[in-house]
Amino acid sequence: ATNRTFTMIKPDGVENGHIGAILEKINAAGFRIVAMKLTQMTKRDAESFYGVHSERPFFGELVEFMTRGAIVAAVLEKDNAVEDFRALIGATNPAEAAEGTIRKLYATSIGENAVHGSDSDENAAIEAAFHFSGRELF
Ligand code: CMP
Repeated sequence: ATNRTFTMIKPDGVENGHIGAILEKINAAGFRIVAMKLTQMTKRDAESFYGVHSERPFFGELVEFMTRGAIVAAVLEKDNAVEDFRALIGATNPAEAAEGTIRKLYATSIGENAVHGSDSDENAAIEAAFHFSGRELF
């Protein structure tokens, strides 16, 4: 069924000038953009958004990174959106990401990995609602 996923182009992707190229890949893969904005997460936003990782050793670094500059937040629609988008972005660690994936092309490290993609339909809905109100979804 047609459904939705949530993505962010992370601060490294924005800083390195990859917004256009990443959106082009998203379009070419058949996703419809139903919400999108340039924004910046506060420390409190990032701690809440990544709450499931709060006990991980990299949590402080993750929050620092995700708040250091602008991100592009977006909601994408497609059949099988969550799974297909995770295939498009590739493995968390760009060194392990398949050829042609967004992380293989644009990520620099496991921490600074250019893009986020929701890992389940349930999290996609939670993450979309974190960043967008109902009237920002088209
Ligand atoms: P993502 O899967 O989008 O969300 C959790 C993030 O934590 C992940 O991307 C990475 O950016 C980050 N992360 C995961 N593992 C590590 C790690 N070993 N070191 C630093 N950051 C990590």
